[in-house]
Amino acid sequence: MDNRFRIAPSILSANFARLGQEVTDVIAAGADWIHFDVMDNHYVPNLTIGPLVCEAIRPLTKATIDVHLMVKPVDRIIPDFAKAGADVITFHPEASEHVDRSLALIRESGCKAGLVFNPATPLHYMDHVMDKLDIVLLMSVNPGFGGQKFIPEALAKLTEARRKIDAWKARTGREILLEIDGGVKTDNIAEIARAGADTFVAGSAVYGAGKDGDPHRYDSIIAALRAELAKV
Ligand code: DX5
Ligand code: ZN
Repeated sequence: MDNRFRIAPSILSANFARLGQEVTDVIAAGADWIHFDVMDNHYVPNLTIGPLVCEAIRPLTKATIDVHLMVKPVDRIIPDFAKAGADVITFHPEASEHVDRSLALIRESGCKAGLVFNPATPLHYMDHVMDKLDIVLLMSVNPGFGGQKFIPEALAKLTEARRKIDAWKARTGREILLEIDGGVKTDNIAEIARAGADTFVAGSAVYGAGKDGDPHRYDSIIAALRAELAKV
């Protein structure tokens, strides 16, 4: 297996009537992480799932649960997700009054911490908190919905984020992952990896593949994504 890269199916596009099986199936098909989209109908115009659902899927897998908070404010809910078994918690800087404090709170709660950048959010939000970041997530769609089209400007932004992260690593020896979220498919994942991403959220690409009821329906899409990554 190619441990340069991680594939993180977003359960936003799963069949929620059989969510546990949907989680188990993508992991059995070779996914690395479970991406967990939390929306509050306030910071983004959609409403999804909270800590209760995280707690319910936690016993089903040892895989990293990657909680992407699209909620405002963020601090009150962070410990709840940590208790519910989240491994990674990321949030949008616009949704926290005190970004440094929220990042510290995530780590104090025992999780890996990260910032999420909307398409129009400048990368300088990361500059003075590099020591508190385990992961940087760039949105390649506007947050709120699955199934949107990849915004090509995200490629240039990935390159810039990669440069900052590599400079930080050269200076301190510390690793920061670079994740991309939105519109990732087999036909663009290699290009996205070349631009600098190492962790790939894929919602509709993975969960939209194959037909319901076939236990192997996710094997071929995850293999296809990996085959593209192997070319990089
Ligand atoms: C959008 C979410 C994404 C979404 C991606 O706000 O953060 O994680 O599920 O879905 P696709 O891969 O379909 O663009
Ligand atoms: Zn997401």
